[in-house]
Amino acid sequence: MAAPDPKRRKHFHNKESEEFPVKFPDIIIFIVNARIQKIRLKKLRYLGRSKGFVLSPELNESVTHVVSELSSRDHVISVLQRICRSQRNNEFNAFEFAQKAELLSLSWYTSCMEEEKPVEITDEHRIPAKKLLDLDALEEQEGEDKPINRRFACQRITPLNHPNKKFTDALEFLERAAELRMGDNSRSRALAFRKASAALKALPEEVTKPEDVDKLYEIRGGNHCKRVISDILEKGYSSEVKGISRSPWYQNMSLFTGVYGCGISTSAKWCQMGLRSLDDVKASYVLNLTRSQLKGIEFYDELNTLVTKEEAAWIHDAVSREVAAIRPGSTVVMTGGFLRGKETGHDVDFLISHPEEGKEKDILGPLLQALTKKGLLDYTDIQNSTVNNTTVQKGADPSRYTLDRYERCFSIFRLPKTAQSIRVETSDPERTVEQIPAAMDVDPASESSDAAASANGSVIPGLSLLDKTNGSATSEGDILQKTVAPGRSWVARRVDFVIAPASQYAFAQLGWTGSKMFNRSMRDYANKVLNMNLSSHGLFDKTNNCSLTANTEEGIFELLKLEYRKPEERNC
Ligand code: UTP
Ligand code: MN
Repeated sequence: MAAPDPKRRKHFHNKESEEFPVKFPDIIIFIVNARIQKIRLKKLRYLGRSKGFVLSPELNESVTHVVSELSSRDHVISVLQRICRSQRNNEFNAFEFAQKAELLSLSWYTSCMEEEKPVEITDEHRIPAKKLLDLDALEEQEGEDKPINRRFACQRITPLNHPNKKFTDALEFLERAAELRMGDNSRSRALAFRKASAALKALPEEVTKPEDVDKLYEIRGGNHCKRVISDILEKGYSSEVKGISRSPWYQNMSLFTGVYGCGISTSAKWCQMGLRSLDDVKASYVLNLTRSQLKGIEFYDELNTLVTKEEAAWIHDAVSREVAAIRPGSTVVMTGGFLRGKETGHDVDFLISHPEEGKEKDILGPLLQALTKKGLLDYTDIQNSTVNNTTVQKGADPSRYTLDRYERCFSIFRLPKTAQSIRVETSDPERTVEQIPAAMDVDPASESSDAAASANGSVIPGLSLLDKTNGSATSEGDILQKTVAPGRSWVARRVDFVIAPASQYAFAQLGWTGSKMFNRSMRDYANKVLNMNLSSHGLFDKTNNCSLTANTEEGIFELLKLEYRKPEERNC
């Protein structure tokens, strides 16, 4: 599982007053604060100013472009009216103003940031007159045939296998590279790449010309993604991916983020300290490595070797047996990528529960003890439940979508070699790509959650587009081809355990099934379209101020007025 790095959110404090030269004086932008987190708003404003845009701190007649996350013009206009009242500007008429100014979605603004200049405004950028809430109207507008064009990934069907892997691998590589950069707008850039990839994954036909992607909601506004796609169409690979993947910076960051317990900030710190290899890290006297990082280095190769379905099944059996002995009637479900049909994963995720509320308590401790006694656990990091009365109401923090508050344990499991499936050396490039470590996503240095640093579910893709005979980009792949453990009767594998009570089970199952992008889009949809907070703990209706309950995943889709998607259709 993946978790965000709290340090990365601190960049934008005290930058409000910094001055930048104005490059585009004709455009005066006002960002509507509704539905945008304070910190993000600060960040967006700062970014705009740093790129030479004028950001008006208040709403007045001089504003030419209004940018908002709201989904209908009516809504924007009513919020603008309210803002003016709060500014005590009684002269201002929001209706008249809206006839002259552009009312645009944030996607226009983020494209401008990406291009570092005002991008041409298209209809897709303009906030629609119709409310998205009007789902029937929305369907009509999208046309009868096309769930693939739908705005949110959770409305589309996304199978595991699709014909556009060469594009999605490259886009997800760039997503990862953006995350690793930790720059000012790296998160939104990363998300733009991921959204574009998700849109392509839902496309049943292969993209053969640049125009093929124009109809896709997530791509039509993003020039950068289109450029990557055109590049691959033209040359067979993306020069950008190739360049980044060969850069020493990237190779170092992906080496270090491959250490269990080592997130992006820690990796960057190690790079800045001049460390270039795991031997450098081991030899450093100044580093105070955490328990999980020590394990991460010791088992580097094994923990970066993908777990196979067969291995996961063996571990599932072993865990189920112990749980059945400890608390008969409990359920142990293997969630995550394997439930979505993947053949391999970076870890195995187990969701444990009991049909009787409360009986799920006191399973985890005895389970870990029993597995340890059998010699099946090498490392555990237990986190107690932090669920409280407001957990459901608050929903998931959009910047920390993957975190929930259940009792859980990140562990390193000792998989007996006898249970290991035979690994075949292969020259198939796709297979090599699959073996490259999913780089980790969190910097846990500050907290006890160090073992939470874990792969974000995406293998580092795009390398299939490289010339494998040249360059060191394959070095990690080479490492991973050896499944080592001389002198030991077991190999190390990552296993996560999560304990959920019956009342929240369906939400936990939905959350832990993933994919991460599917969760993100479903939560985004719940918030934007229905004004509800969805998390792995529940669903809260903010309009009526009440939580909504569901006993099954189907029930949750129903509450959200979404068509049910089976786990294998959630691979966005
Ligand atoms: P993983 O990171 O294990 O992803 O999280 P995955 O899809 O199984 O990928 P592989 O196959 O291991 O590489 C599993 C799911 O659990 C969710 C994540 O968002 C992801 O969808 N999750 C994780 C939560 O819902 N809450 C958490 O606290 C952590
Ligand atoms: Mn997983």
